[in-house]
Amino acid sequence: MAEKVAIILAAGVSSRMNTKLPKVLHEVCGRPMLAYVLDACRKAGVEKTYVIVGYGKEQVIERFSDDKNIIWIEQTERKGTGHAVMCCKEHLANFDGDTLIICGDMPLIRSEIIETLIEKHGQESAAATLATAILDDPKGYGRIIRDGYGNIQGIIEDGDCNPQQKNIKEVNPSYYCFKNKTLFEALGKITPNNVKNEYYLTDALHLIIAAGHKVVAVTAVAAEDAIGVNNRQQLSEAGKIMQRRIQDRLMKSGVTIVDPPNTWIDARAEIGQDTVIEPFTYIHGQIKIGSNCRVGPFAYLREGAILKDDVVLGVFTEVKNSTLGDGVRARHHSFIGDAVIGKNVNIGAGAITANYDGKTIHKSQIGDNVYIGPGTIIVAPIEVPAGYNLKAGSVVNASDIKK
Ligand code: UD1
Ligand code: CA
Repeated sequence: MAEKVAIILAAGVSSRMNTKLPKVLHEVCGRPMLAYVLDACRKAGVEKTYVIVGYGKEQVIERFSDDKNIIWIEQTERKGTGHAVMCCKEHLANFDGDTLIICGDMPLIRSEIIETLIEKHGQESAAATLATAILDDPKGYGRIIRDGYGNIQGIIEDGDCNPQQKNIKEVNPSYYCFKNKTLFEALGKITPNNVKNEYYLTDALHLIIAAGHKVVAVTAVAAEDAIGVNNRQQLSEAGKIMQRRIQDRLMKSGVTIVDPPNTWIDARAEIGQDTVIEPFTYIHGQIKIGSNCRVGPFAYLREGAILKDDVVLGVFTEVKNSTLGDGVRARHHSFIGDAVIGKNVNIGAGAITANYDGKTIHKSQIGDNVYIGPGTIIVAPIEVPAGYNLKAGSVVNASDIKK
């Protein structure tokens, strides 16, 4: 079987987002949109991914610098989705397999849909396979045009639709599988004859249909698998759906989330079995929480927070870049930053680490079974030996610790 190849379009200037940041770097639940699209392609077995970049390309490439498997292709001028695909011509014109095309602004796309698309494309020996979805509000999307028999005739972009076509609710989510050679032949013939004066990828599809090639569709994919993010409203909508997926995955794996709509958990967070996440908890970053912990209400976990097992983190407690050992309790109003805290440490109400002296961040090391009284300020850098007792209301510097 031929190698599976995907082209991801990510070169556009996002005027509708009203942003300076390249659109695909806008985050959904803590990760840039493009990361989800790459994941979905790879999970579906795609071996080679070409990502088309243009606007803000340095920033995009930098953000994904750890990912050595992306082949970056530059589109120097943004002349439309068809033109963007054409930029791969040098690399792909002679490739005799199938090519997937997906937009980088579709963070909700799932690998299952891509697999279905590839499967149908193979079974039907089609020249092109697309997906369609029914949306209550199809505004902004290309509409699917069918003839009297239901055969797909093509796609008309929102801006090019007449009032009647605007009412069509079946839209183009914009992921396709093409016979590569047929695709590039058709792309060579498209013209920017439309309101946007762009080379539309969808026009290549028209030409393929008009030439009598077989074009099929995976119809009625779920609306949420069709959402493209063109503006900030859609970004927040995609975030909400993604948050629900993240929480569903965690709940399936044995985490209790007491009030899902009032909890926010980063896509990269790992949480152990039988941990309970109370309402209004905000977990941001690649954090790790062990088993049997109780987090929140109103807890804030930031990048680098690691909670081992049986940790209790209560109201208005913030943890950043710190490891809390098994059985640590910080029930009320604490800030723990850049600290390594041993087992069974009790952190009293309002106790904090003073980790920043205005110039540098310093670390705190707290041994097992330390008692930190309420209102204590632990001034870093400091090491507190195991079993130590820090009295309530004290300001503790390294020089105060008796060895
Ligand atoms: C596109 C489809 C539309 C579909 C919708 C689904 C076309 C012509 N239209 O419209 O039928 O319903 O997606 O979300 O394909 N890009 C480039 N270079 C360019 C232009 C765009 O790389 O010159 C990239 C963008 O960065 C973006 C993607 O292509 O990631 C799609 O472009 P966008 O402008 O968002 O297309 P839509 O108007 O949403
Ligand atoms: Ca789009």
